[in-house]
Amino acid sequence: MRPVELKKDIYWVGAVDYSIRDFHHYSRSPEGSTYNAYLVKDEKTVLFDTVDAHKYDELVKHITEITDPESIDYIVCNHLEPDHSGALPRIVRLCKPEKIFCSPMGLKSMSSIYDIDGWPVEVVKDGSRLNIGSRNVTFLETRMLHWPDSMVSYLEEDRVLISNDAFGQNISCPERFADELSHEKLLDAMKGYYYNIVLPYSANVLKTLKRVSDLGLPIDVIAPDHGVIFRTPEDVAFVIDSYRCFAEQKPMPRAVVAYESMWGGTAKLASAVADGFDDEGVPCTLINLLTSHCSEVMTALADASALVIGSATRNNMPMANTMACLANMKGLRPLNRVGGAFGTYGWSGEAPKVIAEALADMKFDMPAEPVKCYFNPGKEDLDACRRLGSSIAAALKAKCAG
Ligand code: FEO
Repeated sequence: MRPVELKKDIYWVGAVDYSIRDFHHYSRSPEGSTYNAYLVKDEKTVLFDTVDAHKYDELVKHITEITDPESIDYIVCNHLEPDHSGALPRIVRLCKPEKIFCSPMGLKSMSSIYDIDGWPVEVVKDGSRLNIGSRNVTFLETRMLHWPDSMVSYLEEDRVLISNDAFGQNISCPERFADELSHEKLLDAMKGYYYNIVLPYSANVLKTLKRVSDLGLPIDVIAPDHGVIFRTPEDVAFVIDSYRCFAEQKPMPRAVVAYESMWGGTAKLASAVADGFDDEGVPCTLINLLTSHCSEVMTALADASALVIGSATRNNMPMANTMACLANMKGLRPLNRVGGAFGTYGWSGEAPKVIAEALADMKFDMPAEPVKCYFNPGKEDLDACRRLGSSIAAALKAKCAG
């Protein structure tokens, strides 16, 4: 890869990680990821963010193709999670910057992760402006979008928003711009990223989008720290509209049935539940939790507002992947959903009740009683699960219509 100029004297100098499959334990990243960093050459040369520590050499190689790293005057740390700051200690040693800028909470994170003794750190507050020559940079705090220290940097004259994690996608590819990919591929990656990382902060997303709109900030380019860059008016509108849509979580007439079977009985019930959705004309996706990661359930919820979870009962509880799925989902706080539960058992049969209570605790509408059956489902059990799917589908359609 080579550095890429996104506007005059503004360069992408980050790194593509084709290997990563576990995106810092938030989600799977089956298509890898990128760590974007940006270099701006003006009277002051400024580096916005760095990369994961293991990509230090790539970052330096890209910077060196544009300028001597020692000519970097300022480093801006929009967020201190190590995928953006891991290379920072070595970059500081190499560049000897005049100043390092971060948010107030950024300083707290930075001093916890690194030995910053002697670093020329300067805290910038929300709305602070920095002149770097012919350009001015405005820093906007975006607390809990998605960490307490998160901020974005806006290059006023160029109308470029360096948005850090916001608007990111886990994609590894040689292309650097959204207009070089299909919107279908891009949207899939955006959904996976949003639903596994940003979803709990949806209220902040809507607040931030409103704030940007109220400030009347013209934006030509959105340059996130993961994935591709949005540089056309159509793509800037596309990513903003997509985020608004993700954050609003309006009911969508699709369903997901996620299940974990021990000896095959719960899998049969899952198919029967899916048939019930089919009877009502609601498209339904089946996810086997034994072979799929819990982040795939969250990604599927980007298109679906009904979720029915089934698990065999083991030692009076749902099976382990089902519990992981529920715990993961609880933290991600999906809204406006309809739910249900089912499962087989050999001894007792608590799993459906435990699942139903967990979903109700997450404020899911629960229009039907959980269904449980002994060991190998018979016709009555399968019919009961088919009715479960149909009744949840009917409730979902009513919710969508309302
Ligand atoms: Fe991309 Fe919050 O780190």
